[in-house]
Amino acid sequence: MTRFSTFLALFSIAFLAQALADSLNARSLDHLNATQLLNLELKTAITETQRLSLLDNKDFVFNFLTSKTGVSMGDGGRTVAATAANFPALIGHNIAMTVGFIGPCSINLPHIHPRATEINFIAQGKFEAGFFEENGARFIVNTLHKGEVTVFPMGAIHFEQNLNCEPAVFVAAFNSEDPGVSTIGSNFIGGLPADIVSASLRGLSIEQVKELTKYLPKNPAIGIQECRKRCGL
Ligand SMILES: *[C@@H]1O[C@H](CO)[C@@H](O)[C@H](O)[C@H]1NC(C)=O
Repeated sequence: MTRFSTFLALFSIAFLAQALADSLNARSLDHLNATQLLNLELKTAITETQRLSLLDNKDFVFNFLTSKTGVSMGDGGRTVAATAANFPALIGHNIAMTVGFIGPCSINLPHIHPRATEINFIAQGKFEAGFFEENGARFIVNTLHKGEVTVFPMGAIHFEQNLNCEPAVFVAAFNSEDPGVSTIGSNFIGGLPADIVSASLRGLSIEQVKELTKYLPKNPAIGIQECRKRCGL
């Protein structure tokens, strides 16, 4: 190769690399909406004072009674979650909260948080709260009254069952701004391939596994039979 053609080749590569970088830059910013841009700025801010400059005072307030985001609604009530996804003031603070408005005898179904331990405060009513952490562990269950808290370790399968004939409320705090939630029943039976579920249930037929998915309720769900009978529901 002549020196000139080497120069030309290098120049072309540099030019192409720059064009590629430009198009990536343009594309990655173009397709972001205002919320995503704000999240990006909050996430990449080096200091807390930089983050403060990106937020208004009212951005530091979240209303669990009126929020339309972070809501899970079922026949047994609703849970409302404030996480980094819908409450950007949490970004960079490793904390989040869910409030459960649970109907009479209803249940926040067994689930895990893959990235957070939870501390759960009973604001109203009486709950049976249980968790199972891992293979070889024992099942821990308690009856919790108004004013009490319990803890669910990160990754433990846990639930809160309202034991009263009136609505109940819990307030759950997490040591992650993105705790995540994975509902066991729907993600095992409805989330994995039917043949894998079948193999996990001693060969229950694939048809039977598919039949089971019809029994998966939305969360929160109506709860245990004993309570429903006792309360005449
Ligand atoms: C911005 O985009 C995200 C991701 O697609 C979406 O979830 C969100 O609803 C959008 N927000 C607005 C205000 O359009």
